[in-house]
Amino acid sequence: MDLTQSAEWQQLKTHSTSIEESHLYDLFENDETRDKRFSFRNQDLFIDFSKQRIVPETLRLLTELAHANNLEEKIKDLFSGQRVNTFENRPALHSALRLPDYRTLELDDHDIVVDVHAQLKKMEILVERLHSAQARGYSGRPIRNVVHIGVGGSDLGPLMTNRALCDYPCPASHPLEVFFVSSMDGSQLSLLLKKLDASETLFVIASKSFTTLDTLANAETAKDWIMDRSNVDENLVLQNHFIGISANPEKMTSFGISEDNQLLFWDWVGGRYSMWSCIGFPIALQIGSTRFRELLSGAHCMDEHFRSTPLEQNIPVLMALIGIWNINFLDIHAHAVLPYDGRLARFPAYLEQLEMESNGKNTTLDLKSVDYATCPIIWGEIGPNAQHAFYQLLHQGTEKVMCDFIAPARRYNDIEEQKGSEILRRQHILALSNCFAQSRVLAFGDHALSATDDVPFYKRYHGNQPSTTILLDELTPFALGQLIALYEHKVFAQSVIWNINPFDQWGVELGKVMASETLSVLHGNNSLTEQKMDPSTLTLINEILNLQDK
Ligand code: F6P
Repeated sequence: MDLTQSAEWQQLKTHSTSIEESHLYDLFENDETRDKRFSFRNQDLFIDFSKQRIVPETLRLLTELAHANNLEEKIKDLFSGQRVNTFENRPALHSALRLPDYRTLELDDHDIVVDVHAQLKKMEILVERLHSAQARGYSGRPIRNVVHIGVGGSDLGPLMTNRALCDYPCPASHPLEVFFVSSMDGSQLSLLLKKLDASETLFVIASKSFTTLDTLANAETAKDWIMDRSNVDENLVLQNHFIGISANPEKMTSFGISEDNQLLFWDWVGGRYSMWSCIGFPIALQIGSTRFRELLSGAHCMDEHFRSTPLEQNIPVLMALIGIWNINFLDIHAHAVLPYDGRLARFPAYLEQLEMESNGKNTTLDLKSVDYATCPIIWGEIGPNAQHAFYQLLHQGTEKVMCDFIAPARRYNDIEEQKGSEILRRQHILALSNCFAQSRVLAFGDHALSATDDVPFYKRYHGNQPSTTILLDELTPFALGQLIALYEHKVFAQSVIWNINPFDQWGVELGKVMASETLSVLHGNNSLTEQKMDPSTLTLINEILNLQDK
């Protein structure tokens, strides 16, 4: 039966009419235990759903919807290596990347945990060589700069994580800096190349497919740059200055990367779920291999929770269901991610890919068009900065928006070097007070004030914007691992209810085909009239060609 026709969906529809009429202020007035009832803890992560527009009955009906859609079985399928990515006929086993080495997981009669740990070990040996200044460039000088070239899932995870864990000192015995390059137009690379010394620079080419044009264009530029400066044989340059990370070893080899310098992952790891594989190499370089393993343990801890906790207490499941409640029953289609910690600056961008590339789908697994909304528009910014940018819309605009507030409970006392940073700790408390103040105003509006009689209409706050607050005890590798895996599993649980495939991304393919076609026109290889191009694009191309002739 179609999802929207099911009894569970219809019951939620009926239930939503009563909630539509209630204000969060009243929901709190009517239930003094809301905060306890709707908050949960898993190890270092505490989550408060009480500012969501739900009552106990909502969660009961939502979990019934989940049971009716076999969520528990689907979770088992995910972890056991069933081909849940049906359109590509592959499992989605990112959870296997964080399994401890004493576990086993058979895929096609082969224990993939052995492969995972072999690559992890190989990565750690490379990390150690770089940390101990054994890795040397063409002139014999030790490598001091590592430039990670990748895009999308081969970039955002490590980029976000290295920023998030930037307080952890790099354990290298000599200075080592890690940089990221993703943009196709070469702007990031050109800035870096101006300041780096080629003889001390290593490039890491990260691409699951090793065919992504953005990455290959940057990689070719990087190779030419070193060749120009080194005056040595190309093989020597490639051997000493290039490492590849991919699920496509043949392509790495044809680029010229030797087997010793290749780190592998597998087609059963989706690009946007790959930071736990050797794609995490720059993370291990920055924080060290031991802490990289703590990140994996944090994610594994969330895996175990997701795999074995009843739906009613299962945090990623509840997060998913509350999202579905907001989107499909309360008609909210915008989702702001608001970390109150500058180190999580790239977390919203990471989630934009994770959620929107996964669940931005309009076709069901049985090849029908959906007749319900799926993934909402997700965007975000460091909370305190966003307060001075788009919170006006959250508070007094016309759009309904759901928000995730994220903050570490403790800061500036978690790492040895920072102990006693009393002055900075004050700033952390200031950020927390803003975080809690904003979620209060969003929820309660004017009700948060003691008196509103004299407040003019244009200064009024309606409130009733739902939010979830996630507190990490501290922003450690372990807690960050938990946080990321929480969102990964939320995305999966939502995809199950929506009956869509979260592990493919056909929607980005046509743009790539059209780009190669357009490129050949821009190179003047095809006559413009031969191409069946729209007049708008032809005019734009003509503008470029005319300007380039000048
Ligand atoms: O074009 C989208 C995409 O395929 C993402 O899913 C992926 O993370 C990114 O491109 C990069 O792909 P690759 O790792 O193969 O270079």
